[in-house]
Amino acid sequence: MEKLEQLYEGKAKKVFRTDDDQLYIVSYKDDATALNGLKKGSIENKGIVNNLLTNYLMQQLEEKGVPTHFVRQLSDRETLVKKVTIVPLEVIVRNIAAGSLSKRLGIAEGTQLAGPVLEFCYKNDELGDPMVNDYHIYAMNICSAEELRQISSMAFKVNDFLKEYFSGLGITLVDFKIEFGKTDDGKIILADEISPDTCRLWDSKTGEHLDKDRFRRDLPDTAGGYREVIKRALGKEI
Ligand code: TMP
Repeated sequence: MEKLEQLYEGKAKKVFRTDDDQLYIVSYKDDATALNGLKKGSIENKGIVNNLLTNYLMQQLEEKGVPTHFVRQLSDRETLVKKVTIVPLEVIVRNIAAGSLSKRLGIAEGTQLAGPVLEFCYKNDELGDPMVNDYHIYAMNICSAEELRQISSMAFKVNDFLKEYFSGLGITLVDFKIEFGKTDDGKIILADEISPDTCRLWDSKTGEHLDKDRFRRDLPDTAGGYREVIKRALGKEI
């Protein structure tokens, strides 16, 4: 597999073309941004944690019947993935009130929700990723009703798996964001990452935040939270 030119550099990852036109290489960086790019910094070895954890979880999800873009891990920071066109939606699932939901609805952070909440945000940096509903999604031709049905069903499946998986590690899954992509043959698959950048993960006993909220909220030692997650998940000291 030959790595060719860089196609894209995002806030946390770079994407490279390969000599196979259906495969890309994703390279995870330590760079971190928050507050829609207003806060910039770096979290030591975050790229390694996010790459290893995402790949492990995507393989587990494949086994549970959720198709993903994962092909093969190439190194600590690089992974071979299927080429997709990203559906421009941030798909968020929440189990416990936190972050923007707490703010918007006045529900105290940490309140157990009576059932999981599914939200969609339109991926657009200039607009600050506004929340949209199914009618907006169809009106803007973001995806079809059948595709949104598949996305929603996969998002809940991912939630069921992740909740149980993290619970076994002594970690409470508060909420998370995932993204989906469309392959050239029209299949919707899970893409992007599942990591402490994109999940709220609280220590089940102490309630300590083991995720990017440490960075977002100027709490100390964000890297330590990421290290703790990968240690519990894969037994790896990074
Ligand atoms: P929120 O409470 O800020 O809306 O975040 C909900 C979840 O989505 C949380 O786990 C963090 C994740 N998230 C991202 O991964 N990227 C984003 O740009 C935002 C706003 C949230």
